[in-house]
Amino acid sequence: MKIVVVANFDSMSAEVAKMVCAQIQRKPNSVLGLATGSTPLGVYELLVEYHARGADFSKLTTFNLDEYVGLARDHPQSYHWYMQENLFSKVNIDPRRTFIPNGLAEDLEAECQRYEGLIKQAGGIDLQLLGIGTNGHIGFNEPGTGFGSITHVVDLAESTIRDNSRFFESIEEVPKQAISMGIKTIMQAKEIILMASGGSKADAIYATVHGPVTTAVPASVLQLHPAVTLVVDQAAASRL
Ligand code: GLP
Repeated sequence: MKIVVVANFDSMSAEVAKMVCAQIQRKPNSVLGLATGSTPLGVYELLVEYHARGADFSKLTTFNLDEYVGLARDHPQSYHWYMQENLFSKVNIDPRRTFIPNGLAEDLEAECQRYEGLIKQAGGIDLQLLGIGTNGHIGFNEPGTGFGSITHVVDLAESTIRDNSRFFESIEEVPKQAISMGIKTIMQAKEIILMASGGSKADAIYATVHGPVTTAVPASVLQLHPAVTLVVDQAAASRL
């Protein structure tokens, strides 16, 4: 695991955006795995700037990690909306090649299988971006999720519902379930970048890097991946 410690949120975003752009330049038809949450917002802002200065996103394929169950695509807290607002509508990405699980599917199990199949058909993910939950979750793979898991329906942990309630009017509005790529899906990516910013992530980052590899801390599985870069700011790295 390569660890890059930077000063703050802005330098974390700049570092990761640079790495993503280098990947796109190296391989214009890359398959990118994308994350949501507050952590990658600065990265997306910078990718929009790179695009304004000429970077070409037209050959990319993207797969998002997860989506809430039960939120319409135009719900402001859905990850469909988030991606549209923060990236897709602002760059020349081909909408036919941007994929996000459908949390409104009637048959959620079938949707999970379909999504996993689409990733395979695309040839797998070249570069996966990850944030991390305060409990060590990646995607929406909560503590206890098996390392062999593929795209699946998850029940969100109480702590995740609490953490994410800041984006909703009340905690009751936070969906209780999501569809998420599994741990195995994530681990099959050729390269992974995990980002973290702020002191609230310090314990999770410590456990990810120095803790035992355990399903109790889903991100600890990354110790077993051959090409992971952690880009963390000083506050998130404070226990390393
Ligand atoms: C959510 C997402 C994760 C994200 C995590 C951290 O639960 N499903 O992919 O990494 O929250 O969010 P934030 O970046 O807002 O701290």
